[in-house]
Amino acid sequence: MALGTCRAVLITGCNRGIGLGLVRGFLARSPSPDLVIATCRHPDQAQELQHLKEQHRNLRVLQLDVLCENSIKKAVQETETLVGEQGLNCLINNAGINRIATLDSVTAQDMRTVYETNTVAQLMVSKEFLPLLRKAACQDTIMGIHRAAIINMSSCTASMQQFRQFRKSELVYPYRIAKTALNMITCCLAADLISDGILCISMNPGWVKTDMGGSKAPLQLKESIPGILNVLANLRDKDHGTFLDWRGEVLPW
Ligand SMILES: NC(=O)c1ccc[n+]([C@@H]2O[C@H](COP(=O)([O-])OP(=O)(O)OC[C@H]3O[C@@H](n4cnc5c(N)ncnc54)[C@H](OP(=O)(O)O)[C@@H]3O)[C@@H](O)[C@H]2O)c1
Repeated sequence: MALGTCRAVLITGCNRGIGLGLVRGFLARSPSPDLVIATCRHPDQAQELQHLKEQHRNLRVLQLDVLCENSIKKAVQETETLVGEQGLNCLINNAGINRIATLDSVTAQDMRTVYETNTVAQLMVSKEFLPLLRKAACQDTIMGIHRAAIINMSSCTASMQQFRQFRKSELVYPYRIAKTALNMITCCLAADLISDGILCISMNPGWVKTDMGGSKAPLQLKESIPGILNVLANLRDKDHGTFLDWRGEVLPW
């Protein structure tokens, strides 16, 4: 297997936005992974994924609500059947939400809601898929998505050191704080999983035109997605436990 090519990748939140873009991007790559497992809350309503499934035999669509423990466990079981003894090479924790909330308007419920989806759920999904990632990590090669990796979709607005650069994002208290905590999950996972050979990073996809990014975002999916995929393909041991952007630049925590 070529380095940088993973056999099996699973992505959360794939019915629209960056998740759907990543699915399209992986399917278009040459070689494409043997298995692209696209998950979303409502597969029956995910028309674009269903359409893609008709064209790509290596695409599977599974139900996965990252907030629901039963849904996560069922998706793990279904994935185990698909990947077999070779395990899962790459888990991309992409699903996420935003709430516009300033210091004046933010509520405890806003904080909890965003933290549940953008932070707690990412840890729980990673934890449940670990046995499948460990199986894939068994092969004795350098680190990378050809072996085993967890990619947490973060945001540059989560950077503590670049806080002042993104002052205007003070509009999104719950989001920034939850993504900063997600970055700490990446650091903790990186420390815990280095002995397993499972590479862990946080990824900033750039400010991209999606439902979340909005129409003012400077980047199109067609710019961000190839960038992210190139960065993923070139991940090596030196990248373990880092915060990278879609161009491969290292961001400060
Ligand atoms: N766009 C940007 O500029 C930008 C910048 C930095 C970081 N990011 C991050 O990149 C990721 C994707 O963002 P996006 O722009 O593609 O957002 P988006 O267009 O709003 O899409 C979000 C995706 O997450 C899914 N999702 C939300 N809650 C879920 C849950 N409980 N279970 C499963 N899926 C769930 C949504 O599914 P439903 O359709 O079912 O709601 C949707 O597929 C997010 O983590 C976001 O924070 C985006």
